[in-house]
Amino acid sequence: MNKFLSFLIVAVLFQLPARAQTAQSLPPERISSMQEFADAKFGIFIHWGLYSMFGQGEWYMTNQDIDCHEYAKAANAFYPHAFDAAKWVKAIKGSGARYVTFTSRHHEGFSMWDTRQSDYNIMHTPYGRDVLRQLSDECQRQGLRLHLYYSHLDWTREDYPLGRTGLGTKRKHASKKGDWASYYAFMNRQLTELLTQYGPIGCIWFDGWWDHDEDSIPFDWQLDEQYALIHRLQPACLVGNNHHQTPFQGEDIQIFERDVPGENKAGLSGQSISRLPLETCQTMNGMWGYKVVDQDYKSACELVRLLVRTSGKGANLLLNIGPQPDGQFPDTALSRLESLGHWLGLYGESIYATTAGGVGDGETVVSTRKGSCLYLHLLSDSLTSIDLSLPKKPRKVRPLVGNFSLSSSWRNGVLHLDFAIPHDTWDAVIVIEE
Ligand code: GLC
Repeated sequence: MNKFLSFLIVAVLFQLPARAQTAQSLPPERISSMQEFADAKFGIFIHWGLYSMFGQGEWYMTNQDIDCHEYAKAANAFYPHAFDAAKWVKAIKGSGARYVTFTSRHHEGFSMWDTRQSDYNIMHTPYGRDVLRQLSDECQRQGLRLHLYYSHLDWTREDYPLGRTGLGTKRKHASKKGDWASYYAFMNRQLTELLTQYGPIGCIWFDGWWDHDEDSIPFDWQLDEQYALIHRLQPACLVGNNHHQTPFQGEDIQIFERDVPGENKAGLSGQSISRLPLETCQTMNGMWGYKVVDQDYKSACELVRLLVRTSGKGANLLLNIGPQPDGQFPDTALSRLESLGHWLGLYGESIYATTAGGVGDGETVVSTRKGSCLYLHLLSDSLTSIDLSLPKKPRKVRPLVGNFSLSSSWRNGVLHLDFAIPHDTWDAVIVIEE
């Protein structure tokens, strides 16, 4: 495609809000990453760190006011003998996910790679091997995009300026002021390692900005400079920030936590929706990091419907797994990955590379769109008919999968559909060819 034409298309696709960057300033590599990201629709989030060893979720240290020095002793016992990056990547690919977002360093402050910037890292454990290296090699081998989660806040370091969490972790000299220059330089050196030593990184996914959202004097995270560093090191790398705000300058995607865009059931998503590619992150059970008592997994049907509803908003679903301390995915998570993969194998056409369909209530009737096809997703087997106002009479109406009974009629700009959805169908998809 001619360059000017592709620029125009992308400029129209991602009409950016006033606060965000303008499409003109984006290099072609990033424009194509944004398109690839928007088309992917499904990724897997992995929360794995020292916290996994305690089996209490990734907020354990601060929720229980644990002395960070005592907590750090878990590193002396970290030995995930069953970690197998090839198995992880195979299972993730088998689910139909197009990318994986891995926690390189979470709020606890422990780095899951061979960083030179601090000894509090995976190499200083009895395991002593770089898990990120293994994961990135395997992603490249099997063709899966690697994204990296990176925490802005830190509950262990003395130089991190204290915010509103991690106040009871018994650091010796930490203060509100901290030593920001030192901490900021530390983060940027770590990000430089991540972006120069682990091959192409699809996205840096920041989290923790909100730690300072109650400061009396607004906290300056110096994001512009940090984002510029990332974009300079890898012009194709996207930047996202889970700050629960409308995107800031320099961000390439908009993230929603535990809600599809436009909904706010979890209380973290009142922000307006930008025209950037969107992503909703959600847990498979209740917690992000491994929690031993948390067996409250969403069913395969619920997860498929969540993916469909998210696609119906034009967003990606980033679905989380909290690996066990031994390095394996929990069995239930593996079984959910398989179910999703099976479903996407049949229905993927109505999900990948689609945009929001603009028809339906978003709950039981959801729609996605690609080219001249409108995909109508019926998420309840008790529905029997529906009327849709359409600009013109469709050329053809048919079930995407299987052959449930379906009849249609057209009158005065309204398409009337009658159908009998087989009992226990997770999503009956009707293709309306315009
Ligand atoms: C929240 C939590 C964090 C988790 C993230 C994932 O920001 O603080 O633990 O990693 O959500 O979306």
